[in-house]
Order: sequence, then C-alpha cells, then structure tokens
Amino acid sequence: MKPAPPAAAPPSSSVLLRKTRLSPFFFALLAFIFFVTILYGEDFSCIFGQLDFDQPRHLHQSISAKKKSEKLPFAIGETERGCDIFNGRWVWDKGSRPLYEEDECPYIQPQLTCQEHGRPDKDYQHWRWQPNGCSLPSFNATLMLETLRGKRMMFIGDSLNRGQFVSMVCLLHRSIPKHAKSMKTFGSFNVFTAKEYNATIEFYWAPFLLESNSDDAVVHRISDRIVRKGSINKHGKHWKGADIIVFNTYLWWMTGQQFKILHGSFDDEEKEIVELPTEDAYRMAMKIMLRWVKKNMERNKTRVFFTSMSPSHEKSIDWGGDPHGNCYNETTLIEDEEYWGSDCRKGVMRVIGEVFSKTKVPITFLNITKLSSYRRDAHTSIYKKQWNPLTPEQLANPASYADCVHWCLPGLQDTWNELLFAKLFYP
Ligand SMILES: *[C@@H]1O[C@H](CO)[C@@H](O)[C@H](O)[C@H]1NC(C)=O
Ligand SMILES: *[C@@H]1O[C@H](CO)[C@@H](O)[C@H](O)[C@H]1NC(C)=O
Ligand SMILES: *[C@@H]1O[C@H](CO)[C@@H](O)[C@H](O)[C@H]1NC(C)=O
Ligand SMILES: *[C@@H]1O[C@H](CO)[C@@H](O)[C@H](O)[C@H]1NC(C)=O
Ligand SMILES: *[C@@H]1O[C@H](CO)[C@@H](O)[C@H](O)[C@H]1NC(C)=O
Repeated sequence: MKPAPPAAAPPSSSVLLRKTRLSPFFFALLAFIFFVTILYGEDFSCIFGQLDFDQPRHLHQSISAKKKSEKLPFAIGETERGCDIFNGRWVWDKGSRPLYEEDECPYIQPQLTCQEHGRPDKDYQHWRWQPNGCSLPSFNATLMLETLRGKRMMFIGDSLNRGQFVSMVCLLHRSIPKHAKSMKTFGSFNVFTAKEYNATIEFYWAPFLLESNSDDAVVHRISDRIVRKGSINKHGKHWKGADIIVFNTYLWWMTGQQFKILHGSFDDEEKEIVELPTEDAYRMAMKIMLRWVKKNMERNKTRVFFTSMSPSHEKSIDWGGDPHGNCYNETTLIEDEEYWGSDCRKGVMRVIGEVFSKTKVPITFLNITKLSSYRRDAHTSIYKKQWNPLTPEQLANPASYADCVHWCLPGLQDTWNELLFAKLFYP
C-alpha cells in the first residue's frame, strides 16, 4: 500500500523494528516477561507500556460489569484490537505529509516557523507515523470541528503543549472561513474561536499544572523553581466546563535530583519549603491532577488526555555523534530502535506508568515519548525568532544557541494530534 520511497528519500526507518525480532534475545525477553507477569501480575503493562493507558478502564470494567458496554464520549469506532498506536515506525511519505504548509497557518508563533527563519531542508515535514499493528485514521478536520460544536477544548501545560495546541489549530483552521475565526491572548490563555461552531480551542499556561513561581505566561524564566503543594485549584478553576482536556507537564520539573515544594502560601512571610526527590514531587502533582479530573470532569460527557514527556536532543553523544554537538544540523532520524536519550528521565516515565496503572479516573495516555525520541531532526534548532541579538561567538558556533527542545511546525506535533484524534474517536 505504501509507495516505495523515492530514490532521493532519506532511508526509511522501517528497518528499525526488524532486527531484534527473531533473535535469541527476543526469546529471552519473552521468557523474562512471562516470568515477570506471573510475579507481578498487572505490573506487566509497565514493561510493555502498551496497556497502561487502557488499563484503568479495563480494571474499571471488570469491577462494574454493568458498565461493560460503556462507550467513551466522542467515540465513533474502535482501534483494532490489541493495536498499540504508539508502537510503530516513521515512514517517508512526501505525498501525504505535511498536512498543511507553514505559510498557510498564520497562528504559528515565530519560535516555531523554521522555514521562515531559514531552515534549508524540509525533510522533517515528510514523515508519517505508522503503527505496527494497524493504521492511524486520517485526521478529519470537519469531524473534529463538528464534534467541538458548542464545546471547549483545552490544552493545559507548558510551551510544548502550546506547540501541540497551535498544531491542532493549524490542522483545523483551513475548514473555517477567515471572518469566522479568531485568536486572542489574555493572561494565561490563548483562545482560538471558531465562531460558526461556537467552539473554542484554548491553551492555558501552567507548566506544573499546580501553582508555582513560574506561572506568569510571559515572564517565567525562573531558575529557582518552587511549586505549591496541592494547589491545583489556583489554575483549575479556569478549566471547569472544558469538554476535552489535554494536559502535559514535565520539562519544568527537570532542575536536578530534588525539587522544592512550598507548604502554605506564596504570600507567607516565612515560607516553609521542603525539598523532595523530583520523582516524588512529580508523583504528587500527577495524583492531584487525577483528583481534580475525578472531581470536575463528568465521565460520560468529557475526555481527558495526558501527553507524556517530550524528548529533547541536547547531546549528540547520546546517538553516537560529535561530543560537542546537539540537534543542530541533524536532518535524519535516529534509527536505533532502543534509543532513549539521556535527557529523558526514565524515573518520571515510571512514575507516569505507576500512577496511571493504579487509577480508575478515565484519562487517556498519549505516550509520545519514544516515537518522538527518534526525531532529532524535527527541532527548531537555530531556525526560530531570536529574542536577543546573537553574539559573534554564538554565530561562530551555531550549536551553542540551537533549540533542541521545541519542534518546527508543521512537523512532529501534528503526529501527536493525529494520535490524539485516533484516541478520541477510535479509543
Ligand atoms: C511508553 O512507550 C514506551 C515505548 O513503547 C515504553 O517504553 C514506556 O514504558 C511507555 N510508558 C508508559 C508509562 O507506559
Ligand atoms: C469527515 O467527517 C465528516 C463529518 O463526520 C464526514 O461527513 C466526512 O465524510 C469525513 N471525511 C472523510 C474524508 O472521511
Ligand atoms: C456556545 O457554547 C457554550 C459552551 O462553550 C455554551 O455555554 C453556549 O450556550 C453556546 N452558545 C450557543 C449560542 O450555542
Ligand atoms: C451523565 O451522568 C449523569 C449522572 O452520573 C447523568 O445525570 C447524566 O444524564 C449523564 N449524561 C449523559 C449525557 O449521559
Ligand atoms: C552538517 O552536516 C553535514 C553532514 O550531514 C556536514 O557535511 C556539515 O559539515 C555539517 N555542517 C556543520 C556546520 O556542522
């Protein structure tokens, strides 16, 4: 079905998942998993990851047999049984990707318009995600907009989630005439309105979800970061009434091994601050988020998603490159199927897995970490608006100011939204 890659195409990464398939290692792994399954029962899913986002529902269904046929809100079909859409490979597909052009979407912020800022290649726009066991449904903007009629969709989190929000707006806006849409920014909000649909797609800045000293949507570059214990309602009161929520939080927690948690209030003269291992602080935030969802989101009318860690590519030594390099000048994918970058904290992934496997709160996990980690080519690198003039030293060494965290649009984050689309309509 897939057209053969054209001769000039970068190598397809479909070789990725072949190598280990029938090796003795594979059988050893199987045996190991079998053993662990027996030992740890449900913890099995943490090893493969593929069951985690479904498991809460399964658990729940087995508990209350009555709700067995319970259909998730917005669902119109099902993904093929047992197909983990997050497990797959990147396929070169110049014919169908990108899904829109950079200059055709006026909402992309200048930090993400790579072509406009001189990126010489476009290869990063032409990859399509292909799950191993099934195909992704094609993104249907009309269906998405009809579904959002009279509704609010909210992306809540940090700048990476803002990128996904903008990608979603770009995927939809072509179906709306010029006079019938607007984008407004106020306080912590960016709000895109589709007037004829009476629908909004919103982004809300809350990099920790909880109250923190980095909550100003514009001035938030604080190195001594502090999060206030249990304080989700400070922001959460603005999320009530949303019909679809997409959360993320990760990067801002990465300040070291410990993280500062404030007991009491930011207004207290004497602040009581406790340092916790970062994983514990992160777990606390996840649990509070789930509690908020349980209390504020009606399970038969709404859907909630959580996007996992967005990987960065700051050290090319991770993929066997130059010891001083990073994502700068990378135009091809990482082909090692087992690749996991050193700046992508496994402990945090474990916490996410643990928390989701134990909860009954209906929340859908978008496990984009691994599939994005192959995409060292997809970052904005030096091709973005620079807020300060570059020094001669920087200009002489472009890698020194490359942004290996954020992603060009169109690009990788459109795939995250295709996965969101799949999980929303075909859970
Ligand atoms: C996400 O997927 C990756 C790769 O499939 C897996 O290693 C990881 O454990 C998964 N994470 C969770 C929390 O399920
Ligand atoms: C997209 O969704 C709309 C509304 O549900 C439907 O009428 C249309 O046929 C769909 N388009 C495609 C290409 O599937
Ligand atoms: C528009 O949608 C909002 C919810 O986002 C709803 O409260 C309101 O009644 C709707 N207005 C119309 C005219 O449908
Ligand atoms: C959702 O559930 C509540 C009670 O839990 C019920 O009152 C309401 O009618 C339900 N709404 C829909 C759309 O099924
Ligand atoms: C960029 O990479 C190419 C090979 O992929 C190499 O020939 C070139 O020297 C690199 N340029 C810089 C500035 O590092």
